[in-house]
Amino acid sequence: MDGMEMMQDPVLRCEEINHVLGEGENQVHVLKDVSLALKPGNIYSIMGPSGCGKSSLLYLLGLLDRPTGGRIWIEDLEVTGLSDADYSHLRNLKIGFVFQFHFLLREFSALENIKVPMRRAGLLNDREMSERAAHLLDLVGLGDKLERLPGQLSGGEQQRVAIARSLANEPSVVLADEPTGNLDTANSNRVFDMMRGLAHDTGLTLLIVTHNAQIAQASDHALEMRDGRLV
Ligand SMILES: Nc1ncnc2c1ncn2[C@@H]1O[C@H](COP(=O)(O)OP(=O)(O)OP(=O)(O)O)[C@@H](O)[C@H]1O
Ligand SMILES: [Mg+2]
Repeated sequence: MDGMEMMQDPVLRCEEINHVLGEGENQVHVLKDVSLALKPGNIYSIMGPSGCGKSSLLYLLGLLDRPTGGRIWIEDLEVTGLSDADYSHLRNLKIGFVFQFHFLLREFSALENIKVPMRRAGLLNDREMSERAAHLLDLVGLGDKLERLPGQLSGGEQQRVAIARSLANEPSVVLADEPTGNLDTANSNRVFDMMRGLAHDTGLTLLIVTHNAQIAQASDHALEMRDGRLV
């Protein structure tokens, strides 16, 4: 990393990440010497063929898993040696995650789904959580569907609930794994425009894995991954 990047205080940074999954004959060297620094308010996209390691990288940067080797910083805090409890605490407060498959709780309304990470953080009372969740759903254009169950929403609407949920605790960075993967072009562009608006309005940093070249082009930094390496 050069001096210029250091001065811009990345919100999330990794150095020389290596990751090996599986045992014995099935071992795969999934990530190879990956270094990356995400600057505040910027949108990054990652494209690359299926199986090249995109989701694995997001999981590590999102503190959902630990790398076999290398170092990770959230703002200026190195997380490498932290306990599991500190790791999850930091994840919940600083990072929003939009999964490749959205994982909404089926028996909870849109509003209640968004309150789940807030409840875990324990900073707001129930009324405050409901107000904030309603505000976030309004932001993603679902202000009139707060009480719907996921099964009563379209695929694109469910993705938008997942995006609203990723913003629940005002994270510094949102990591999104193909957030528009199951959407048609029009909805995919709409969801991306909305995310870009949020990034530019609130200084949120976005890292988006996508197979959509238009989205990659519209991001501030288009990264490419091949066989476990950023190229
Ligand atoms: N538990 C595991 N054990 C061994 N190999 C694994 C395991 N999980 C994933 N892999 C392998 O790691 C590699 C990277 O997987 P990853 O999910 O990061 O790919 P991806 O780039 O997100 O692909 P896609 O675009 O299909 O989502 C793949 O080759 C996959 O088969
Ligand atoms: Mg993936």
